[in-house]
Amino acid sequence: MKILMVCLGNICRSPLAEGILQHKAERAGLKWRLDSAGTNNGYHVGEAPHQLSQKVAKLNKIDISNLRARSFTAEDFDQFDKIYAMSKDVLSDMKAIAKKKYVAGKVDLLMNELYPGKNMDVPDPWYGSESGYHEVFKMIDSACEKIIEKYGISGNGY
Ligand code: 4NP
Repeated sequence: MKILMVCLGNICRSPLAEGILQHKAERAGLKWRLDSAGTNNGYHVGEAPHQLSQKVAKLNKIDISNLRARSFTAEDFDQFDKIYAMSKDVLSDMKAIAKKKYVAGKVDLLMNELYPGKNMDVPDPWYGSESGYHEVFKMIDSACEKIIEKYGISGNGY
């Protein structure tokens, strides 16, 4: 199973989602490959995750300090089985970037795993304070737990 997490900058939300789901998958003995990317990250490409994303991850025993921001590309649809957007603006960016390569069946909003059909966003913590990063961590963590329950139950490492 290859899963891509996508947000705008690839420095706040999606690196957290990548780190959290990778951590849960490894703990469950699943050989999943996780990655993350941004739809609108121009000058952030190559940067490490935001200090506060690194901090909330570390408080939860997850190290995301080695991740580096990259841009989402149409070819990501060839590489990944499942692609999660953190928010609706990211989803429309993904459609615009991928054009003919867009595969609706591979894509969902992350929070729809927890609240199906509600189309809820993981809020962008970029302009806010530290509390926003803790809130985002909890939301992503709960959604990732659902993903493990849903796709990881076979126990065959897929
Ligand atoms: P992210 O947050 O999409 O969760 O990584 C953002 C990071 C940077 C910017 C916007 C959102 N920015 O405008 O630079």
